[in-house]
Amino acid sequence: MGEIDLRVRDCRHFGTRCGRGPTRRFAEAADYRGSESAGVATYLDSDAIALAPFPDTITYLEDDDWAVLTRKTSVIFNAQGAVAHREVVKSGGSSFLVKTANYRHFMAKEIHAQPEVVGHTLRRYVDVAAERIALPQRLPFDFNDIGRISITGCGSSSYAGYVAKYWFERLARVPVELDVASEFRYREAPLRKGDLAIFISQSGETADTLAALRYVKAQGLHTLSVVNVPTSAIARESETMLQTLAGPQIGVASTKAFTCQLMVLAALAVAAGKSRGELSDAEETRLVQRLIEIPRLMATALATEPQIEKLARDMAKCRNVVYLGRGTSFPLALEGALKLKEISCVHAEGYAAGELKHGPIALIDETMPVVVIAPYDGVFEKTVSNMQEVAARGGNIILMTDAKGAREAIVDPLVTIVLPDMPATFTPMVYDIPMQLLAYHTAVVMGTNVDQPRNLAKAVTVE
Ligand code: F6R
Repeated sequence: MGEIDLRVRDCRHFGTRCGRGPTRRFAEAADYRGSESAGVATYLDSDAIALAPFPDTITYLEDDDWAVLTRKTSVIFNAQGAVAHREVVKSGGSSFLVKTANYRHFMAKEIHAQPEVVGHTLRRYVDVAAERIALPQRLPFDFNDIGRISITGCGSSSYAGYVAKYWFERLARVPVELDVASEFRYREAPLRKGDLAIFISQSGETADTLAALRYVKAQGLHTLSVVNVPTSAIARESETMLQTLAGPQIGVASTKAFTCQLMVLAALAVAAGKSRGELSDAEETRLVQRLIEIPRLMATALATEPQIEKLARDMAKCRNVVYLGRGTSFPLALEGALKLKEISCVHAEGYAAGELKHGPIALIDETMPVVVIAPYDGVFEKTVSNMQEVAARGGNIILMTDAKGAREAIVDPLVTIVLPDMPATFTPMVYDIPMQLLAYHTAVVMGTNVDQPRNLAKAVTVE
């Protein structure tokens, strides 16, 4: 292989496979390999997970670093052209982690892993025995001093933030502004020094989210990130980092990363409510008990898979799908529609159910499936009236609800997916499961590339 001279902006990780001997700093390790072992290789990628099956060690490059690579040698330079010594860390991945096991696709494996990884994440943020929130570190701010929270992310991560907006506002009575990072970074929003900005990212490398973080830091806000990759740029540059313990998210579509983000954000919202005096000890306990139940309820929701698999055969024949929800089910409708779009390439739109009559109702006829996310909660009756509007126009309703909702729905849905009974607050973590399964099985029927949908990248490290 010839020499490759590469300026590194989009490519932050640098993997090396050592023949034998100790792990050294990157440049030294390259010399060592060059002299002692044949068949070693150097890999370059923008996501450490892509490197997981290959190297023993990984070096994270800094912005404007560049490197000269050969099969046997590699030297990193900084922006000024001086040789730069970057720390070599042991690769966290392994070929075991990046196998699909008994599943046909990583996405299926990751959907089914959720009760376990959401449970791990729960135990990082909750003292299960004491039934209390127990954040792993002391926060460098007091929630009582926070006048407004700004939440930023892209794609599914922004929808996790949208759900969290409802939680922070309801449980902690603190106003929240939610933005997609690509808009936030340019819209010159008035920000108040000392307020809190939360950044949500699975990869921790999304360019727009990282730029938004840097922008906010420069304005003197507290920055807190919810990330899955603790070595990522967003994790490193935030004042506080709360990790999701989803494990490697290999499928491009966010599944377990999304629900783990929700778990961290739910715990944080309860912590905020408690420290602002909005939640009593007893209320905290009640909410924590509900969180503790989530992994079990997710496992129960997975049992809807055979029914959803059957439904997906019809879904795959459709050209358009509408998703509706109210309250926290609204951002979930956005997330469900995104998942279907990206995996199966079926056009789908999510709407707040109350918005139906302001335009989208014109789309409804007997060819249109309408997925309605409606746990039996405080806004259920309102959603039922929206379902009646859909039914009156011949739309095919696919209702995701619980046993009580199924009984009280009045309208006659084409299909009802009955999810476990649970108190209203944290339903999105459980109701996301049938959404993911529907997108997955529709894509399988359609024969699209489930784990690497066309035109999409796992980490969007360019603007
Ligand atoms: C959707 C999906 C994307 C990501 C988005 C942000 O399934 O995976 O919408 O959520 O690109 O990526 P992260 O979370 O890595 O910042």
